[in-house]
Amino acid sequence: MKYQEILDRTRALAARPARKLDSRKSAAVMKGFTERTTGSARLFQQAGKVLPRGIEHAWTPSVPYPLFMNHGKGSRVWDVDGNEYVDYILAGGPLILGHNHEGLRKSMMELINTRTNFHGFSDEMEIKAAEKIIHHFPAIERVRFTCSGTEANAAAARIARSFTRRKKIIKFLAGYHGWSDQFMTDMEVPGSGRFVSQGIPDEILDLTVLVPPNDLDALERAFVEHSSLGGVAAVFCEPVGGESGLVPFADGFHAAAIEIAHRHGAVYVFDEVVTGLRMGLGGAQAALGVKPDLTTLGKALMGGWPSCGAVCGSAEVMETATVGVIPDGRPFAYIAGTLPGNTLSAAAAYYTILELEKPGVLDRMFVVTSDLVDKLNGLFAAHGCGFFAYSFGGIVRIEMTAPHGVPLTGPEAFPEIISRRGLLEEYSAIVHAHGVFTRNGRDMVSCAHTTKDNDRAVKAFSALLDTLE
Ligand SMILES: Cc1ncc(COP(=O)(O)O)c(C=O)c1O
Repeated sequence: MKYQEILDRTRALAARPARKLDSRKSAAVMKGFTERTTGSARLFQQAGKVLPRGIEHAWTPSVPYPLFMNHGKGSRVWDVDGNEYVDYILAGGPLILGHNHEGLRKSMMELINTRTNFHGFSDEMEIKAAEKIIHHFPAIERVRFTCSGTEANAAAARIARSFTRRKKIIKFLAGYHGWSDQFMTDMEVPGSGRFVSQGIPDEILDLTVLVPPNDLDALERAFVEHSSLGGVAAVFCEPVGGESGLVPFADGFHAAAIEIAHRHGAVYVFDEVVTGLRMGLGGAQAALGVKPDLTTLGKALMGGWPSCGAVCGSAEVMETATVGVIPDGRPFAYIAGTLPGNTLSAAAAYYTILELEKPGVLDRMFVVTSDLVDKLNGLFAAHGCGFFAYSFGGIVRIEMTAPHGVPLTGPEAFPEIISRRGLLEEYSAIVHAHGVFTRNGRDMVSCAHTTKDNDRAVKAFSALLDTLE
């Protein structure tokens, strides 16, 4: 689906009253579900005594309570009560090969059994992983591993500031670049601004300049306005749009935006934490034919193994990254840590890419993704509900209440957005109760998914539609 159609359909959906659940029908579904998930309910109680609000993971479903899993295999996971689910959440992206992929597991166990998990010194595995990334991503010549996508973006901001000797960064409305202070503004809902998190000094967010996506004039103006206010070091974007495509970019936007950024002496950063590998081995940059100066990676890069992230880019900009050298007249930015690039994580990246390079593996994932989107759109069209699905590589977006499409014209918009988000959580719970995991329609397909899994997903979404008022 093209950018304009996505925007038009999102606006149309947001203009309609959101569909509520039929309380009698949904109560019946949820009664059965809670009866089948008593182990999770008990563990959630226990977790509340040791974990803040009883929950660790942003991607975990929370209605009626977080579900606790026991194990996963391929496209499926089993909770502690033995219930089986087809998983389209996939930890928010990392599990590109599916749960507990046999080939990846064997390679990793071989490494652990015969060599090390980490010894704290340089290891050839770091080179092998970096060589693979550089081979596939057209705009990457150097790789510095980090422990998360958040760290990778924070590192990119520091590198860009050091390289350009400027202070400000531009972020497009609705984009997510991890939870470091400077990026925690205007997420998911364009124009929503600084309400995401307390605990961040305004002085830090004052260095983040917000620009609407697809507005090249606004981008140009931002550069001019801030040139005497510290200057703009970098423009950060999610290549397919905020929240992995909820607010997409028009074709050709990045090429024009890069031209503006370079004319003003700034660095253009592709946050490929989600799109990297998921849009193909060369990420969104290969798919879109665009060469950013810096690229951040995470999630799928290490196939679900921990300490996952990397800040990467052209040799010229990336040579700024140091691990504590004495200043030598060149730009330098301290980017380090104890565990980044540990042998286990570097190996996970290397072996994940080896698996994805096998003929047909990613192509099958794309075919299964399109199959899911087509089947869901068929279901939604037959129902006349205005819901719709679309995809970018192995990323699926299923739009049902469109909170981010609500225009922020007055104070009444916020309760409406919050209510639409709440409804999405309730919708998701109904789908979960039918044995399929969706995270409010912000979903992923893995290489292990099949069209049979999709049929089960369509059944679950069909059951959701039957539960609406
Ligand atoms: C586009 C994007 N960038 C960065 C991040 C942060 O990555 P991590 O959760 O590994 O810190 C995320 C996580 O969802 C993301 O979606």
